[in-house]
Amino acid sequence: MNKNDKKLSALIKARKQAFSLTIGNQKGGVGKTASSVILAYLLAKKGFKVLVVDLDPQANATKMLINTGMRQAQEQGLEKDFSFNKTLLDAILEKNIEDTIINIIDNLDIVPSDDSFEDFARYVYLNSGAKDDFSFDHVLEPLFADIKPKYDFIVLDTPPSNKEIRSNAVVMTDYVLISLQTQDDSLAGANLYISALVDLKQKYDLPVEVVGVLATLNDPRNTVDKLVLKRAIELFSDEVVFKHVLPNMSRMKRFPIQGVGTSDRFDKYVLDEYEVVANELISKILFYEEGED
Ligand SMILES: Nc1ncnc2c1ncn2[C@@H]1O[C@H](COP(=O)(O)OP(=O)(O)OP(=O)(O)O)[C@@H](O)[C@H]1O
Ligand SMILES: [Mg+2]
Repeated sequence: MNKNDKKLSALIKARKQAFSLTIGNQKGGVGKTASSVILAYLLAKKGFKVLVVDLDPQANATKMLINTGMRQAQEQGLEKDFSFNKTLLDAILEKNIEDTIINIIDNLDIVPSDDSFEDFARYVYLNSGAKDDFSFDHVLEPLFADIKPKYDFIVLDTPPSNKEIRSNAVVMTDYVLISLQTQDDSLAGANLYISALVDLKQKYDLPVEVVGVLATLNDPRNTVDKLVLKRAIELFSDEVVFKHVLPNMSRMKRFPIQGVGTSDRFDKYVLDEYEVVANELISKILFYEEGED
């Protein structure tokens, strides 16, 4: 852990519960899952205790993390079972998150998802007993109360364009990181996401903050990418947009299949790029937390 990591760790100990961090954008395919999983992996490697909650019925984070666990177990010559028979929807139905948690590597756990989570909205409106906006939007939050003290970070990977999941994630989140592919439709998706977040923040007087907008999949030579990045800085400000911009990295395509790890220089390149982002994220959280004193 570096100096800032230790500072944040002390802060988490003092508040006695995890920071929850949602990765969002209304648009699909903009790097949300890649950033959720790789940032969670690097935070765990730094020594923070991290839980990833896969809120997407596509279950991409679940698959990528299980592959990560299998990759590391294989590298260490260990036999480890990553099969699971309960997912997030079971946790919601049984009001018990703990039974669904699976360990991936040291300090890194996941609440897995699968396609059954497509029924979340139906559950919210028909079976949860919720009767008004407030209770529709607070189906998930109470389930996490007991496990928040056991982690340093709870990272929520969200699907694109799903109102019920977005609202339930935002109300239980301290910080939102917007993943921004440097393309125009992704910027529009970021805007939509942030205005929904601002509405929820006002409606329920939430402490949630946009911790940063992370530009990714960027081609620094392309005029559209340059223009979108410039517009993002104008729209969200220099402070909000991460200084470090993630390039398009071909190794990223392998991570969902092979899991995250460092076997060669191409893996290391991706992880080094994300390490800069993880450090920037930590200093941004410290900025917000220390500013509140
Ligand atoms: N920096 C990058 N360089 C190259 N490829 C990337 C990068 N980031 C993500 N990708 C790839 O882009 C695709 C979309 O990324 P990802 O699944 O993380 O997006 P998403 O926003 O979670 O999508 P969805 O909205 O469908 O959940 C994936 O194939 C991923 O491997
Ligand atoms: Mg995703």
